[in-house]
Amino acid sequence: MLVTGGAGFIGSHLVELLAAAGAEVTVFDTLTSGSRENLAAVRERVSLRERDVRDVDWGKYLAGNRCDVLFHLAANAYVPPSVESPSFDYETNFATTFRLLEALRGSAWPGRMIFASSAAVYGNAVRIPICEEDPTVPISPYGVGKLAAERYAAVFSQLYGLNIASLRFFSAFGPRQRKQVVFDLLAKLSRDREELFIHGDGTQVRDFLYVTDAARSAMVVAAAGPLEGETYNVGSGEQHTIDELAKALCGMTEVNPRFVYSGTNRPGDPEKLVVDISRLESIGYRPEVEFAQGLANVVAWYRELTGETWK
Ligand SMILES: NC(=O)c1ccc[n+]([C@@H]2O[C@H](COP(=O)([O-])OP(=O)(O)OC[C@H]3O[C@@H](n4cnc5c(N)ncnc54)[C@H](O)[C@@H]3O)[C@@H](O)[C@H]2O)c1
Repeated sequence: MLVTGGAGFIGSHLVELLAAAGAEVTVFDTLTSGSRENLAAVRERVSLRERDVRDVDWGKYLAGNRCDVLFHLAANAYVPPSVESPSFDYETNFATTFRLLEALRGSAWPGRMIFASSAAVYGNAVRIPICEEDPTVPISPYGVGKLAAERYAAVFSQLYGLNIASLRFFSAFGPRQRKQVVFDLLAKLSRDREELFIHGDGTQVRDFLYVTDAARSAMVVAAAGPLEGETYNVGSGEQHTIDELAKALCGMTEVNPRFVYSGTNRPGDPEKLVVDISRLESIGYRPEVEFAQGLANVVAWYRELTGETWK
């Protein structure tokens, strides 16, 4: 099996689960945002190659290597770099995926591919909960690239019989994630015990999915999905406000700051992201890790990472 981006946040958890299930796993990763340490627990069992997916000759790779399942996660994984440099995002996320699809088509590849797409394909949701059939109107170059790639994947699947599905990840969280709201709030609680600055008014609603559940969804779809170009929302199906999240983290760290709100959401930050995961559930997927347990795991990881005691 090949996992591109397998040294990253979701990728490394996926690689651990695959290795635990006995799979032979190769990882392609530049270690740009990922790291060797992320794969430390499976170092002996996984082949980590420092390769840039933009430069891989996929036809040659497929001809010379047995690759029955391909999880394609390598990407610029965040919106802001795509806004600063759309051409970088286009090349890394879309053009590379397109070349990979072309190689799979050209070699009449018989394997299965899972493409890591994103909730960013929806842009500002027109209704909640968000279903896969809802309008896709991305509002960032990142979202456009993910949408174009998953559409090509679907068309290639239908026209050329490739076995592919795309996963639209919402807000995954967990150990090894050094960005996004959970990590940001912990970092703020580390810096300042008196005041906790929160964007918006704290009522924004999000669907937080623990990272091993996000990773496991890729295995479930690879094993059970029809792989005919379909897309799957990947979330927990639960809703939490940013205030609830912040209060839970304060409780776990025993820090009691005054909450200070900016009052307005950041541009491009929707008020509510609520996810319908019934399509994923229909193929046997159920999230396993409770929100509170997931947060406790992150807090424990953050303490170990930073030496923070919050005393
Ligand atoms: N984390 C989320 O909540 C979330 C939400 C939506 C979509 N996604 C998607 O899931 C995938 C994984 O995201 P993540 O959160 O684990 O991010 P991440 O940044 O931790 O993982 C991406 C990995 O790809 C590697 N990489 C980047 N460019 C590369 C290149 N050119 N060649 C080889 N490797 C390269 C990075 O070093 C990193 O290890 C991405 O495709 C991302 O767009 C994630």
